[in-house]
Amino acid sequence: MGHLGAPAGAAWPVSMDKALERLEALRHESTLGGGEARMEAQHARGKLTARERLALLLDPESFVEIDRFVTHRSTEFGLAEQRFLGDGVVTGHGQIHGRLVYVFSQDFTVFGGSLSEAHAEKIVKLQDLAMKVGAPVIGLNDSGGARIQEGVVSLGGYADIFLRNTLASGVIPQISVILGPCAGGAVYSPAITDFVYMVRGTSFMFVTGPNVVKTVTHEDVDMESLGGADIHAGTSGVAHFAHDSEAESLAAVRDLFHFIPQNNTERPPEGPGSEPPTGASGRLLDLIPDNPNRPYDMVDVIRAVVDEGAFYEIHQGFAGNILVGFAHLGGHAIGVVANQPAVLAGVLDIDASDKGARFVRFCDAFNVPLVVFEDVPGFLPGVGQEHGGIIRHGAKLLYAFAEATVPKVTVITRKAYGGAYDVMNSKHIRGDVNLAWPSAEIAVMGPKGAVEILFRKEIAESDDPEKATEDRMREYRETLAHPYVAASRGYLDDVIDPRETRPRLISALDMLANKRDSNPPRKHGNIPL
Ligand code: HXC
Repeated sequence: MGHLGAPAGAAWPVSMDKALERLEALRHESTLGGGEARMEAQHARGKLTARERLALLLDPESFVEIDRFVTHRSTEFGLAEQRFLGDGVVTGHGQIHGRLVYVFSQDFTVFGGSLSEAHAEKIVKLQDLAMKVGAPVIGLNDSGGARIQEGVVSLGGYADIFLRNTLASGVIPQISVILGPCAGGAVYSPAITDFVYMVRGTSFMFVTGPNVVKTVTHEDVDMESLGGADIHAGTSGVAHFAHDSEAESLAAVRDLFHFIPQNNTERPPEGPGSEPPTGASGRLLDLIPDNPNRPYDMVDVIRAVVDEGAFYEIHQGFAGNILVGFAHLGGHAIGVVANQPAVLAGVLDIDASDKGARFVRFCDAFNVPLVVFEDVPGFLPGVGQEHGGIIRHGAKLLYAFAEATVPKVTVITRKAYGGAYDVMNSKHIRGDVNLAWPSAEIAVMGPKGAVEILFRKEIAESDDPEKATEDRMREYRETLAHPYVAASRGYLDDVIDPRETRPRLISALDMLANKRDSNPPRKHGNIPL
C-alpha cells in the first residue's frame, strides 16, 4: 500500500484521464487506513474509525483534508513494505457551527495510531497553520504512543508537538478528545491543552501502563482503574469530561464551541439572550435555607439566572465543592465560578483551588467575562490539606482571580468568610461589580468560631454556657456578619433582592463590555504551581 510512484510500466506523462483515475484510486486508498480487517477490529473494540469520528465532530461536508499522501520514511523492521497513505493520522480543517477549526484524528488501524516522524510533522503543520490563522485545534487521540520502530525520531516528533502546544496556550483554544490508549509521554500533549474529553471503557491515559506498575510498585490494577475516564474526570482531574460513548463526547465538544472564541484577540460567541424558565427568579428567594448550616444546590441558582437555564458544566466529576462552566447571560458568553454548598459546604480545598484557577485563567486568556456566585465558609483545615499544600494550591486561585483583566462580577449569596472572601473575586483584587444578597454573611470567620475565640472565658464562667454562646453569636451576626459593613465601605457595590440577580448581572456585563485593564509589563508572572 501507499506506493506513490508511477504505476509499473506506465508511460509518463499520462493523459489527464489516466492521471485523474490514478488520483481517484490513491484518494480511495488513503481512506482505507490499515485495511478492512483492522477497521473491523476497531469497531469490535467499540471504537469508531478516525474518519467516522471526524464526520460526527464537524459540520457536514466541511472537512478538507491535508497531507493525505504523506507516508513514513522508515525502512527498519520491515517498514519499507508497510506504508499506509496518511501514516496513521488524518489531518485537516473543517467547521463547527460554521466556524473554522483545525483537527487531527489518529488512526489506530495504522501501526496502532503510533506517532512516527511523518505523523508528527502532519500534526505540527496543522498547529503552525492554526497559530497563523488564529483558530482552535482539536486532537482526536487514539494511539499506541511513540512509533517503536522509529526510536528517538518519534520522541523528537512528540517534543515538536509539545512545544507548539505550549506556545499556542492562551493564544488559540486547544481541545483533546481521548478515544483510545494514550500512554507514556504522549499524555503530555493533551495535558497542556485546555479541555480533555474521555470516553468510559475505551479511552485511557497513563504515564506507564498496568504491567509496568505491577513491576515497579507491585500494585495490581487494570487499565480502567489506573487511567480510565472516570478516574481522570473524577479523581485526578486530568480530564474535564467523561462520556459513555464517542458520539456523546464529540457532541459535547461541538457544544463547547457555543462559548469559546477563535483566539485570544476575539470575543466569545454571543447567544440569543433568551430568558431562563418562567418563574425561575422567584424561586431564588426560597433557595437559601434559613439555617445557615443547611446546604442548597448552587446549580439551581445558576440555572435560575443564566439564559435558558443552560449551564455547560466543566469538571463536573472533580472537586464538586466548586462549580465551573460556561453559560450565556443576556447574550454574553460567561465563565461561571461558584462555590457549591451542597458538597463539603462549598469549602475551598486543594482540588477545588486547582480546578477554579485553571478555569479562571482560560477565561481570562480568551476574553470570557467571569461571573462568581459565592457561598464559601473558608479554606478546608486539616493535616492532609496542609501537608498537601493547600497554601500553595489556594494561592493559585487567588493569583488567577487577581491577575484576570476580563470583566469580573461577583454575587455573594450567603457565606464569604476569611481568606476565601478575598480570593473569590473580591473588590480588592479588581472585582468590577460586587453584589450581595441580603442573606450574605461576610466576616473573618463564622459566628460560632468567632465567639468561641473572643468569649471563651466568659462562656466557660457563665451559668448557662449555651445561652451565653447564643447571645454572643446573635450580637456577632448583628454587628459584623451581614453585608452592610462591606457595603458601607464600598467593598460591595450594592445589596440586592435575589430576584434582581439576573437583570443586575446583565446590566453589569453590558456596562463592562468594553472594559480595558492590564497587568505590569513582564516576561510572565510566577503563579505558585
Ligand atoms: C508501533 C504499534 C505501537 C507502537 C501498537 N502498535 N503500538 N506499532 N509502535 N507504539 C501496533 C501493534 O503492533 C499492532 O500492529 C497494532 O498497533 C495494534 O496494537 P495491538 O497491540 O494489537 O492492540 P491492543 O491489543 O488494542 O493494544 C493497544 C496498546 C498496545 C495498549 C496501545 O499496542 C501497546 O501497549 N502498545 C505499546 C504502547 C507503548 O508502550 N507505547 C510507547 C509509550 S512511550 P498490527 O500490525 O498487529 O495491527 C511513548 C513515549 C512518548 O509513547 C514520548 C513523549 C515524550
